[in-house]
Amino acid sequence: KKRILSGIQPSGDLTLGSYLGAIRNWAALADEYDCYYMLADMHTITVRQVPADLRRHTLTQVAAYIASGLDPERNVLFVQSHVPAHAQLGWVLDCYTMFGELSRMTQFKDKSAKNADNINAGLFTYPALMAADILLYQADLVPVGGDQKQHVEICRDIANRFNGIYGEVFKIPEPYIPKVGARIMSLTSPENKMSKSDKDQNGCVYMLEKPEDIMRKFKKAVTDSEAVVRYDPAAKPGVSNLMQIYSVASGRDFAEIEREFDGQGYGAFKTAVGEAVVELLRPIREETERLLADRVYLEQVYRGGAEKAARVADRTVAKVYKKVGFLAR
Ligand code: TYM
Repeated sequence: KKRILSGIQPSGDLTLGSYLGAIRNWAALADEYDCYYMLADMHTITVRQVPADLRRHTLTQVAAYIASGLDPERNVLFVQSHVPAHAQLGWVLDCYTMFGELSRMTQFKDKSAKNADNINAGLFTYPALMAADILLYQADLVPVGGDQKQHVEICRDIANRFNGIYGEVFKIPEPYIPKVGARIMSLTSPENKMSKSDKDQNGCVYMLEKPEDIMRKFKKAVTDSEAVVRYDPAAKPGVSNLMQIYSVASGRDFAEIEREFDGQGYGAFKTAVGEAVVELLRPIREETERLLADRVYLEQVYRGGAEKAARVADRTVAKVYKKVGFLAR
């Protein structure tokens, strides 16, 4: 069976963007692939975290993965820091990743502009650790949103470089990006990505947010003065973003949506999008809350997941250590 690896940073509450761009697409893959889904807690500390919040977000995210349809019997769900192989291979790959290529990463440029007082080495070498995450499992596919494409590309470059020196050690992975929903934009500034680090809380909808808060955010969403529901991301970024969200939530294509709201104002449209999102997320929120009350079960899931993940990852580390010339212990 082919393998899949993906992950999300538990650096805050999960967003509608992460759900539509990534998690939503994961559950269906378990039939065809061996799936590994990680909580990238090691990546989160490239930006300062409050320790208690990081722990809470990590546990909540385990519950949200399961509630989103990732059956722990059929998917390996684990926390990155529980599998030491990530740090081990991460270091090795640091030594096969070039200063120049890391300097060109758009996420590094964005994040260092936003966190000018903490441009640490981990933020810079972030892509090498992410490459380790993927290559440890010899993943064939990496299902992510559009913003992670560059990271998967540098992972391929690093793997090819390493294989060029030592022979076929790593499988070269492909990114797997959904056609609709790969880039959900902020509701208040639709030229920017919807992001949990956005200072404007009204632009970002959270997966586990209360229905009334979700409705309020959609009703306030920025549109334009044309009052026509039509898909045109360049001229109508706000409306087009809402159409993307509605399309995924309702299963309708853009032509159907244009017909549905023909001759109606934006008010009815925004209410319909909000309601569709509320209904999409409701069962996930309820199931997440139920699971969070069962701490023992969640612990069992992530401990079992770490064990299974380590079995695969340790094999890759052993192979790599041998290739680079480390003395066997
Ligand atoms: P992160 O935590 O920023 O985002 C998690 C996933 O959600 C997607 N995503 C979006 N998709 C559409 N629209 C949006 N507005 C939006 N916001 C987020 C992201 O593309 C991603 O798929 N570096 C990764 C975490 C990571 C990882 C990995 C991913 C660490 N190791 C190995 C894959 C494989 C990150 O920061 O994702």
